[in-house]
Amino acid sequence: MVSRAPISGCLRAALVLVLALLLLWPEGLRADDRRFRLAVPGPLAESGLPEYILPRFSLKTGVRIEVVAPGTAAEAAFGTDEGRKVFVGAGATWRLRRGGDHPGAARFAEWLTSEIGQRTVTSFEVDGTAPFSLPEVAAVEEEAPEYDGDAERGARVAQAKCGRCHVVDPERGGGIASTPSFPVLRTLSDWDVRFQSFYALNPHPAFTQVPGVTEAFARHLPPAIVPIEVSPGEIEAILAYVAGIAPADLGAPLQLQ
Ligand code: HEC
Repeated sequence: MVSRAPISGCLRAALVLVLALLLLWPEGLRADDRRFRLAVPGPLAESGLPEYILPRFSLKTGVRIEVVAPGTAAEAAFGTDEGRKVFVGAGATWRLRRGGDHPGAARFAEWLTSEIGQRTVTSFEVDGTAPFSLPEVAAVEEEAPEYDGDAERGARVAQAKCGRCHVVDPERGGGIASTPSFPVLRTLSDWDVRFQSFYALNPHPAFTQVPGVTEAFARHLPPAIVPIEVSPGEIEAILAYVAGIAPADLGAPLQLQ
């Protein structure tokens, strides 16, 4: 006599749901915003991770994923060569590559790299151990922009020309209190964009000349304060210098007007 293990109601409901999904999944259905194809290589599929994370993603977002074999047409693909690193396990560091701009695939990429997605990956267990971990600091992946100006020259120029208002180097003092210091500006995620174009950002246009870049001050509107002249090369040097400044340690994000 074979006695069957009782199937819990919850598990049965899950099975019914999976079956229903399979039945409702007509082959070749037009890929719309709410479903996309994801190529999953064999070793990853066999690890059980996709089966674990994909339904959780779908439940959360209403976006359905059809798993396809690598090499077939797909809006996104797991692989080891291209794309953003997403997790490590089953003998490889896995990356997610997206082909095109499918909104569902974009949503998946966003979810997978979010805190919730990452926790879902690391909470996957087989026999009490978690076979997948996160790739070491994803930030390393982002290519750090290079500033090839001369940082030492940048320090001198900044102190001489910007130091009238900005604290450039807190150890050297200077500046005026109402003006944000360079270490404070350095905390902004787009500090480089701001420094590259500072001459166009208020209050600088009123007193700053970049030869070959800015218009000469109108003759009838001479600057009310002693003007500064900065060459494009000097701006490059300032960028290289500011890149190396330690950002100020702020309790709360800075608000610029
Ligand atoms: C006469 C005073 C003065 C001088 C000189 C000056 N700045 Fe400023 N700068 C300011 C003030 C004031 C602000 C803050 C503006 C604000 O809060 O909107 C500022 C803001 C900035 C910002 C942030 C701008 C933004 O909108 O995000 C950058 C970057 C900057 N300055 C770079 C420089 C550099 C580089 C130099 C030297 C080449 C320089 N400044 C010289 C007064 C000055």
